[in-house]
Amino acid sequence: MKVRTNPFIEAKIGKLLLKNRIVRSATYEGASDKNGYPNQKYFSTYKTLAKNNVGMIITGFSFVSRIGRAMQPCQAGIDLKDKIKFYRQITDEVHKYNCPIIMQLAHSGRQTLKSETLSTPKSSTTKRSIYFREKPKLISQNEIELVIEQFKNSACFAEEAGFDGVQLHAGHGYLLHQFILPETNILGNEFGIDKSTGIGIKLLDVIFDHIKDNCGSSFPVLIKISGDHNLSNNFYPAKFDSLIKFLDEKQFDAIEISYGTMDYPLNIFRGDLDVKIIFKYNPIFKTENKFKRKIYKTLINKLIVPKFIGFSPMYNLHFAERAKKITSIPVISVGGFRSKQEIEFAISNKLTDFVSLARPFICEPDFVNKMLQAEDDYKSKCKNCNKCVFMCDSGRVTTCYSNTKNLQAL
Ligand SMILES: Cc1cc2nc3c(=O)[nH]c(=O)nc-3n(C[C@H](O)[C@H](O)[C@H](O)COP(=O)(O)O)c2cc1C
Repeated sequence: MKVRTNPFIEAKIGKLLLKNRIVRSATYEGASDKNGYPNQKYFSTYKTLAKNNVGMIITGFSFVSRIGRAMQPCQAGIDLKDKIKFYRQITDEVHKYNCPIIMQLAHSGRQTLKSETLSTPKSSTTKRSIYFREKPKLISQNEIELVIEQFKNSACFAEEAGFDGVQLHAGHGYLLHQFILPETNILGNEFGIDKSTGIGIKLLDVIFDHIKDNCGSSFPVLIKISGDHNLSNNFYPAKFDSLIKFLDEKQFDAIEISYGTMDYPLNIFRGDLDVKIIFKYNPIFKTENKFKRKIYKTLINKLIVPKFIGFSPMYNLHFAERAKKITSIPVISVGGFRSKQEIEFAISNKLTDFVSLARPFICEPDFVNKMLQAEDDYKSKCKNCNKCVFMCDSGRVTTCYSNTKNLQAL
């Protein structure tokens, strides 16, 4: 008889015991100062989630170096030792509620702006991202070694700050993803594209070993990847399978599977596009000039909108299902989970081991409790308006705009 799994009972990721299989996926908090030091709002965001029975929290992307920071002005950082004491207060608080917390480590590579990194972004390609349009310089061997060191140092700082593990952000087109894809990796050295698999995995390979060697082999190292993208070549299924096989051989502690790159950002999130917010807050498109707005609108409509994929429930679940046939490492599916029934369906049918959510927790931090209390189904109030996504560029704290007061303040 097939044993059906319940999302609301405990399960393990590496050495961590989670009280349920519902994870908060990495979500930019907008709650750090301009140097990446977390503030009181960062603290309260995580306290509230932990208090409300989330199985495990993954923080928003945290930069491992100044040059690796993203364009969002209030991104958290874990690049310096003196940040440890600030994060320690947060992890201590979260642990009171028996909730593990993982820090997501990120380097933006070409997906950023020079005005934030203060020097020309570096990447495994010299090609611009069509969204950021900042021309990167090709990363040198010495700079690759520095990136490895920075990921390792950041993981050790996170461990010292009481985080229960780290997640390497190797999806959404960020630096580790740039190395994986042949479209964005022109390096001819050992960090280039492997001929037999068609993907570039050496950087991940070395970073993983460095973290495990320095933080201890049982310190959980998770990874977030994109199951496919909208760049030129096919990634799914052949290259996807190769990537999962590699992660399986390395024994990452969990694999979270999302979609896409920031070239077509809305395909990561899916749902509504709000051009008004983009013109008001986005540093790339911000303009008062009516003529420029017209040109931008035409560009967005011609180049970006035709590639948009609409929202559908559980839109990345097929990647998790395929990964589970290749590996026994815990798989986390993210993207479009909006109800108790959907989560129960995905987990009880073993299509994924865990689910993770971002927007429903912005909208209702007590979403897990509401599902636990509901006798039958409970549906998220999130309508995928994506205002929370576009407002990441504004310098304000990440919040839900279905709330009238927040909406009026836009
Ligand atoms: C406001 C906002 C900020 C996000 N920040 C991050 C981030 O820092 N790192 C990351 O990997 N994904 C980030 N994401 C993507 C989510 O983790 C998730 O992959 C995506 O939103 C789809 O899940 P959902 O349908 O549950 O929102 C963010 C999403 C939102 C809405």
